[in-house]
Amino acid sequence: MTETVPATEDPDPPFASVDAVVDALREQGYIADTRLATTVFLLTRLDKPLLLEGPAGVGKTELAKMLALATGRRLLRLQCYEGQDETKALYEWDYGKQLMYTQILREKIGQVVEDAPDLTAAVERIGENESVFFSERFLAPRPLLEAIRSPEPVVLLIDEVDRADEALEAVLLETLGEFQISIPEIGTFTAEQRPYVLLTSNNTRDLAAALKRRCLHLFLDYPEAARELEIVRSKKTGLSDSLAEELVGVVRGLRELELRKAPSISETIDWARTLAVLGVEELNSQILSDTVSVVVKYDKDVKKALDALPRLVDPNAVVEEPGHGHGHGHGHGHGHSDDDGDVDGSGVRSAKDTAGRHGEGVYGTPKYAKGTDKDAPATPRTVTSSQGSRSFGLGRKRAL
Ligand SMILES: Nc1ncnc2c1ncn2[C@@H]1O[C@H](COP(=O)(O)OP(=O)(O)OP(=O)(O)O)[C@@H](O)[C@H]1O
Ligand SMILES: [Mg+2]
Repeated sequence: MTETVPATEDPDPPFASVDAVVDALREQGYIADTRLATTVFLLTRLDKPLLLEGPAGVGKTELAKMLALATGRRLLRLQCYEGQDETKALYEWDYGKQLMYTQILREKIGQVVEDAPDLTAAVERIGENESVFFSERFLAPRPLLEAIRSPEPVVLLIDEVDRADEALEAVLLETLGEFQISIPEIGTFTAEQRPYVLLTSNNTRDLAAALKRRCLHLFLDYPEAARELEIVRSKKTGLSDSLAEELVGVVRGLRELELRKAPSISETIDWARTLAVLGVEELNSQILSDTVSVVVKYDKDVKKALDALPRLVDPNAVVEEPGHGHGHGHGHGHGHSDDDGDVDGSGVRSAKDTAGRHGEGVYGTPKYAKGTDKDAPATPRTVTSSQGSRSFGLGRKRAL
């Protein structure tokens, strides 16, 4: 069992100042403004997790990864999903290993119960030796326990916490409040060096006030034009600075349309790369229309974008009647069945992301199953009855 030394403040904080945070993140290719850098600086100085909220693709997950690189810490990631049970977050007993050991030790176990007069006595004897099989050797730590047990300090990313159920949120609260985890069969593990904890949320549901209260909070929105341009430049897309600047302006214009999924930073980067590959030397509505499906992924959004592009690329352009004259024959991915039929005034509501149980996504963020495949639709993963039951008996007993 790990001794329960209380976590202490980092004796050797990684950043001397907010500017040092900006520089260190920039070195890793992450462009932070001072508000973001100040919050990160505080995260490294105060024993508080950081809750990052904001639309898809604004660099929430990336920040955790880059902070790990910038501080030389290992990144541990807990990807949250609906129906996830706490064993996937904290720990499980390694049932397979337990079983293997009991198989190998069959004879030895036989000897233990050999002279037991009846079944009750035999069970009693096995029970007396239970702790052998519920020891650290058979423990399968999941990200929270791993972060707390790690001899080296780590960055713990709890990604998309809004997708987890309230029950898991309560477990997180408890763990993050104390930075310790009690395992009834073994004892209490306490972090010797507190991890930097970052939680991200797309706001598909409101998080518990208690969780918010315990966290530093940062709303990460789409960046200012200058920062977005800097991000695009830093990605070495191959597009000239002047075209990149124009492109950022166009993307910002698209974000102002009521789209189901507004283009994110990663889409601006993709668009810049696409235009560079095509050897574009001048932005005009034709080339932007031909490539718009790089940034706008829903049929209705494509139509809206096509209508707006001439105006966005050249504010003096004569704009045709909306809905006419654009987008034919360019193959912009028409025919997404999930868009069809949305013709009434509920456009704004249904245009927003309804992934997750609550259907209240306010950011317009169709979500994807993270940690798997970005292209996979966000059908919430279901937890099978066998999940979380890889232990003897009825699973983990909780003593906290
Ligand atoms: N400040 C930044 N500096 C550099 N690159 C950035 C920045 N912000 C975003 N990016 C780029 O945008 C991409 C998407 O960011 P990320 O995956 O972190 O978004 P997210 O906010 O976690 O979105 P989601 O909610 O969909 O998970 C990153 O891979 C990175 O290339
Ligand atoms: Mg993310």
